[in-house]
Amino acid sequence: MGIHLDARVGEIAESVLLPGDPLRAKFLAEKYFDNPVCHNQIRGMFGYTGYVNGKKISVQGTGMGVPSISIYVTELIQTYGCKNLVRIGTCGAIQPELKLGDTVLAITASTDSHVNTLTFGGREYAPHADFELLKMAYNSGKALGHQVKVGSVFTTDSFFVDDLEKEYEIWRRHGVLGVEMETSALYTLAARFRCRALSILTVSDQLVTGERATAQERLTAFTAMMEIALACLKSL
Ligand code: HPA
Repeated sequence: MGIHLDARVGEIAESVLLPGDPLRAKFLAEKYFDNPVCHNQIRGMFGYTGYVNGKKISVQGTGMGVPSISIYVTELIQTYGCKNLVRIGTCGAIQPELKLGDTVLAITASTDSHVNTLTFGGREYAPHADFELLKMAYNSGKALGHQVKVGSVFTTDSFFVDDLEKEYEIWRRHGVLGVEMETSALYTLAARFRCRALSILTVSDQLVTGERATAQERLTAFTAMMEIALACLKSL
């Protein structure tokens, strides 16, 4: 057993999908898994393990932000031996051409989180996706007919900012596609423990125009992202 996960060793698959929202983990397991079993309920952070085309796959909620995802990913890797970690989340787009519902594959993540600054003694580490997973997700997304963009994201500790334009202008100028709150931590931990990781993100907010997806649009777009992620993990 872990500290924040009460599954027994062996109950969680090597390949894990990671939504921030634990209710999305439940939704995914009930919609796509054969014989889903709930492997975690601590703190209501649901995790399920089941089968997709005979392949054992898990889904585990991570909560929001760098500290929360870091706890779950560290336990999944260190206690349960997980090897393939695919975040399925949302991002706010900071480039005008991105539309609500588009899928972003994060090739790398810059951050304002202080965790890596401390870890790397003030020097900059460049957290990056696993190339194989990225390639598979890109090909699956295109084959499934989705709008897939590959690029960098910005992982922030602050969801609410006083002045969006001031905060994100420098990132927009450097071509960063979107803002979210977990990817730099996922990629850094995966690199440290020699695991594969990828963040697949649906654009839920267009921060340039101020548009926000409705609950229904979020669900539909979330389904697209889950199908891309499952297509990757099934074929590993
Ligand atoms: N900021 C940070 N994270 C996010 C956002 C946002 O606007 N939208 C979705 N995840």
